[in-house]
Amino acid sequence: MNMQASALAHPNIAFIKYWGLEDEARRIPANGSISMNIGPLATETTVSFDPALMEDVLILNSQVVSGQALIRVQHFMDRIRRMAGSTLHARITSENNFPVGAGLASSAAGFAALALAGTAALDLDLSERELSALARFGSGSACRSIPGGFVEWLTDPLTGETYAQSIAPADHWDLADCIAILSEAHKPIGSEAGMRRADTSPLQESRVLDTDRRLGVCRRAILERDFAALAAVTELDSNMMHAVMMTSEPPLYYWQPDSLAVMLAVKSWQAEGLPVTFTLDAGPNVHVITTRPLMEKVIRRLRQIPAVLDVLSAEPAGPAHLLKQDSPT
Ligand code: PMV
Repeated sequence: MNMQASALAHPNIAFIKYWGLEDEARRIPANGSISMNIGPLATETTVSFDPALMEDVLILNSQVVSGQALIRVQHFMDRIRRMAGSTLHARITSENNFPVGAGLASSAAGFAALALAGTAALDLDLSERELSALARFGSGSACRSIPGGFVEWLTDPLTGETYAQSIAPADHWDLADCIAILSEAHKPIGSEAGMRRADTSPLQESRVLDTDRRLGVCRRAILERDFAALAAVTELDSNMMHAVMMTSEPPLYYWQPDSLAVMLAVKSWQAEGLPVTFTLDAGPNVHVITTRPLMEKVIRRLRQIPAVLDVLSAEPAGPAHLLKQDSPT
């Protein structure tokens, strides 16, 4: 048996967002979603099972992690142990190559890499679909970081089987994601806790009911590389999710005034004819999507906005994959 494995996974940015659970215990999402993996942003994780360990140890970006973050990872590891029939604990080291504290969701890449490295270390040979289904228990959106490129998370309405699959590879469309990093005045409440409130919003039901339509528009826009259609549905979907957040009880305001300043700048560039659109997750940073040839121009413009502290650039990226071991144990 290997006992040790390393894996790499990319974060993803959703065009059609996941927000709310239909079944919390089984992690069945309230609605389907579509995203794009983004590189070179990545998380690399090594899992080493060690009979001498009494519990799992997590070292994230060279810092030993304790508290809730560790418990969340230990619960995920319990799931892998149950699948493998193992009682061993592991040392987990995980490194992000993107700045921590930049407010970027790292949990999707983190749990995708952990699902792959953790199962490989115990010699479980899971299919992509099984890995994706497993990763969602760490963080829902992590299931979309297992397959490559442009990815859809779907649920079989009859069986409740839920997993993500690729709808087009990374090289299908040369999009770029220019991530405008803004000051974070307050630490926002995490997405897991935030989405528990989704059903308190009177808007959630209509958002969920309209999802199949938006998914259809988005899928077609991606397959036909129709930027205008992608832009329209991406902004609508982001606005709908944030409308649900802001009308939940108690309300969640992930946007900051500076976020709106960037969104309005994007609208004015659109009016000039630039292929550019925006989407925001559960935080104030704005993902500004454009095409690869226009990436430098968009980054230059974003940097001119006073509130923008930094701009990270990313492009469509491939699936989670195992990394070769330097010194197999
Ligand atoms: O997977 P989680 O628990 O990090 O939730 C993701 C929620 C959003 O990022 C806001 C939307 C999405 O689909 O990625």
